[in-house]
Amino acid sequence: MKSSEIRRKFLKFFEERGHVIVPSSSLVPDDPSVLLTTAGMQQFKRYYTGEADAMKDFGSKSTVSIQKSFRTSDIDEVGDERHLTFFEMMGNFSFGGYFKEEAITYAFDFITKEMGLLISYVTVFQGSPSTPKNPSTGSGNTEQASSGNNIPKDTESKGIWESLGVKDVREEGMDDVFWGPTGSSGPCGPTTEIYCKNGAGQDIEVWNIVFNEFFCTGSREELLAGRAELKPLPTKGIDTGMGLERLAMCAQKTKTIFETDLFGGFLKKEPISGVTERVRRIVLDHARAIAFLISDGVEPSNKGAGYILRRLVRRAMVYEYLVNQIEFKLPIVFTAVHETYARWYPELSKEEILNIFEGEKERFLISLEQGLKELKKFEKVDVKSAFFLFQSFGIPYEVIKELGGERTIHLKREDFEKEFEEHQEISRAGLEKKFGGHGLILDTGELKAGDVEELRNATRLHTTTHLLQQALRDVLGDSVHQMGSDVTSERTRFDFSFARKLTSDEIGRVEKIVNKKIEENLPVGCVEMSKEEAERSGALHFFKEKYPDKVKVYYVGETLLDAYSKEFCGGPHVGRTEEIGRVKISKEEAVASGVRRMRVVLTKDAEFRS
Ligand code: SER
Repeated sequence: MKSSEIRRKFLKFFEERGHVIVPSSSLVPDDPSVLLTTAGMQQFKRYYTGEADAMKDFGSKSTVSIQKSFRTSDIDEVGDERHLTFFEMMGNFSFGGYFKEEAITYAFDFITKEMGLLISYVTVFQGSPSTPKNPSTGSGNTEQASSGNNIPKDTESKGIWESLGVKDVREEGMDDVFWGPTGSSGPCGPTTEIYCKNGAGQDIEVWNIVFNEFFCTGSREELLAGRAELKPLPTKGIDTGMGLERLAMCAQKTKTIFETDLFGGFLKKEPISGVTERVRRIVLDHARAIAFLISDGVEPSNKGAGYILRRLVRRAMVYEYLVNQIEFKLPIVFTAVHETYARWYPELSKEEILNIFEGEKERFLISLEQGLKELKKFEKVDVKSAFFLFQSFGIPYEVIKELGGERTIHLKREDFEKEFEEHQEISRAGLEKKFGGHGLILDTGELKAGDVEELRNATRLHTTTHLLQQALRDVLGDSVHQMGSDVTSERTRFDFSFARKLTSDEIGRVEKIVNKKIEENLPVGCVEMSKEEAERSGALHFFKEKYPDKVKVYYVGETLLDAYSKEFCGGPHVGRTEEIGRVKISKEEAVASGVRRMRVVLTKDAEFRS
């Protein structure tokens, strides 16, 4: 059975049973408590909480959808036979309409009669704590059990399954058969899951049927730790989710989801070879996810959904790079993704996907090679060295883990993420420590100050000088080079190579760029590396200066790779550009033939946190 047939059958089956077909919502949800849409129920959250009325909005208490979904939580599993980051979730929903009896019967009929599949077994909730204080009355009404979060065993669902002839009903706990909430709070409840066999004879979970009975006041983690409360929901309901790819794997009797027709098109077009089977699957998964994220307006960045996209792009690209861009080419895979899915999702734009991908690729290639070389140098890649590789060269965690092989055996994702968060704190506190209480007069060759306030202004103007050099290159071209610089607490004076007087328009543009970078509040970071590597990173340096073998590179941006400006430098600098305030170019003049001089002053007070 083709996947297009599965789509059609699913929607029709539920439409015939009073469900209104609702189109997929965007992968970027309205709900600020989650980054991306992880389930079909997300767009319907307000109908369970009573904030919205389904009868009014849909003319029915039941809906059905095929929802674009994305789960970062499964990223480490991608590469096996059944996990994906992006997937399509088929689901039927009821808001205060039908409950357990109908939901289970619909699912049973759809799987066995419409799809012609055998159910291997199902699971039901065993109660929590696992020896329930309030054994179920069999009515499915668990409201009285919500205090202290005691939830009774779901004997009602067990009974329904048995009456339908399903004999293998397994009882499981909170980890597996209690769903939600999504984000920081929301509807949740016990579930029952359906398992069917794939082409390799493995039992695969295909359908999760949630009995939304509670509103959880905290996140899932808080709930499991006993720190969130369950309250009865105003509108009890049904929320089901069935992965289209998994169902297709069972229906088409394939061993993995990657052999179903949902991926088949890409493989026929452009076989991805020269890599392991696992890597091939990762690339297929990521290519599809990248295409859908971009088409829902996500752009690569170092925050939120943009950061997820960036990681996927970089990971996919690293593999492409490692096989020398000969064996497979991602743009061809993107074109095939587009051809396969545009029929269902007209928002997919081939041009946009390719443009964003190519832009990101260009930026990343510059430092990838160097990062991979650095990675090889570590005998053991611990969390600090992994973070160094990420911060300096933009190598994502997943790639470090994978390419580091044995050397990354002790590296754990949660430690890496903790390091990431801690780092944000440290860079804020960084300069404070550096100058705390002593030696206010600095003479780094570039910067002089007499007291704390002067030091702060000189530091602001020092970072301004870096921004200025890059802005001059942006406006006048890369032939601009530093010929000299002098920073005091009053002004920065920067000499650079350029043949003629600047027009007032050029001066205005340079000033505007510098102030824009200040407003963007970019972090300023520093890495130490060999002179040769620093040169290759593209960091600017002053030709008159003699540098030691090991140099520091200061960069303005989230990572060395993304940096707007990078220069060989001894510091000090502000922690974030907003601390500069605002600047003005006060003078532009000639100092020698082919050398111009610019002075820049501070024009607005800003809080100095560094
Ligand atoms: N919300 C549940 C899930 O995502 C069922 O749709 O599995």
